[in-house]
Amino acid sequence: MSLAERRVLLGVSGGIAAYKSCELVRRLREGGAEVRVVMTEAATHFVSPTTFQALSGQSVRVSLWDAQAEAAMGHIELARWAERILVAPASAGLLARLAQGMADDLLTTLCLASPAPLFLAPAMNQQMWAHPAVQANVSTLRQRGTQLLGPAAGAQACGDIGSGRMLEAHELRDALLASFAVGALAGLNVLVSAGPTYEDIDPVRFIGNRSSGRMGFAVAQAAAEAGARVTLVAGPVSLPTPPGVMQRTDVRSAAQMHAAVLAAAAQADIYIAAAAVGDYRPLEVSAQKLKKQGGSGLLLQLGENPDILASLSAQERHPFLVGFAAETHDVAGYAQDKLQRKGLDMIAANRVGEGLGFEAADNALSLYWAGGAVELPRAGKTALARQLITHVAERYRAGRA
Ligand code: C5P
Repeated sequence: MSLAERRVLLGVSGGIAAYKSCELVRRLREGGAEVRVVMTEAATHFVSPTTFQALSGQSVRVSLWDAQAEAAMGHIELARWAERILVAPASAGLLARLAQGMADDLLTTLCLASPAPLFLAPAMNQQMWAHPAVQANVSTLRQRGTQLLGPAAGAQACGDIGSGRMLEAHELRDALLASFAVGALAGLNVLVSAGPTYEDIDPVRFIGNRSSGRMGFAVAQAAAEAGARVTLVAGPVSLPTPPGVMQRTDVRSAAQMHAAVLAAAAQADIYIAAAAVGDYRPLEVSAQKLKKQGGSGLLLQLGENPDILASLSAQERHPFLVGFAAETHDVAGYAQDKLQRKGLDMIAANRVGEGLGFEAADNALSLYWAGGAVELPRAGKTALARQLITHVAERYRAGRA
């Protein structure tokens, strides 16, 4: 997924977080976006328009009354040009003026004059953010469909700790990316499996694995953001159901996951198998807790679990199948082999270890399909899941075209 040729109008209002917006312009442009920056007069006291001009490669506008700039691109033209307006930082004052529908400078005028979706990244002292007047403005803006991005909690430039920090540049860029991806899976039923499986040995012990479920949950969320009706089959994880996911079935063992996935797959257009399914299970589950064997060791006999993906791909009619491959070495070789062997439409491979994979916050994926491949470099699981969904949607549509 990219922001290639996307037209983003970045509004900058007066706040110390304006310095983070310099990085944001770079990130947006790296993603291929065209960025035009409009600053409030207050913002120019924090960062010079020249800085934004150099970073965006476009002249920066501050005033509604700049005859020369109006002649080059009038403010109405600029309002129409924008596909998205993102105000970062959005100060308490700016939120108030927007909530009131004021048009007392170029930025607020553009927000009123543009049909583009409006995103606000508030940044202010935690006491200000918590003030009922600010919260009332935020709720008015939300009710009108304006999307609030953040703020985050943490240490603030003023020394306070609390809610009011502007989101980081990469998080704001990801939110814009996601907003362009909306609709990529509109009308489709997507089934996602996530998390580990636990294979019971006795009432207190099991064979499990270190999957946290976070990648699969991020995939389910990204699919929902892209407009899909999402069903999530989750192994034993302690994660809340992501927003927008319609149905969640919790399972424990591979056999339960197999049954739950097969039941839901009949209605699914796409199945994304992000679960780390145990390959083996104890053939006998002891009804009582196993006792120490007095030095003679313990031999557990394991039987192979059914392969969920393979049993789906063997069916005559089955959803578009996306598998995951977590490998410690020769990622490309094993992944491509798995793509063929399991009869998949696409496989997302990742190297586990080195701060990536199962328990880590970050991940990196290599996607393979018949005749193509793409690398999704190291990123947070939410961002990565959104990129994965864009590629899945593209391949799915290409297959039906
Ligand atoms: O063969 P391997 O376990 O590495 O393959 C991983 C992929 O296959 C994942 O997408 C996983 O969800 C899926 N899988 C499955 N059923 C199994 C084992 C793995 O669907 N029994």
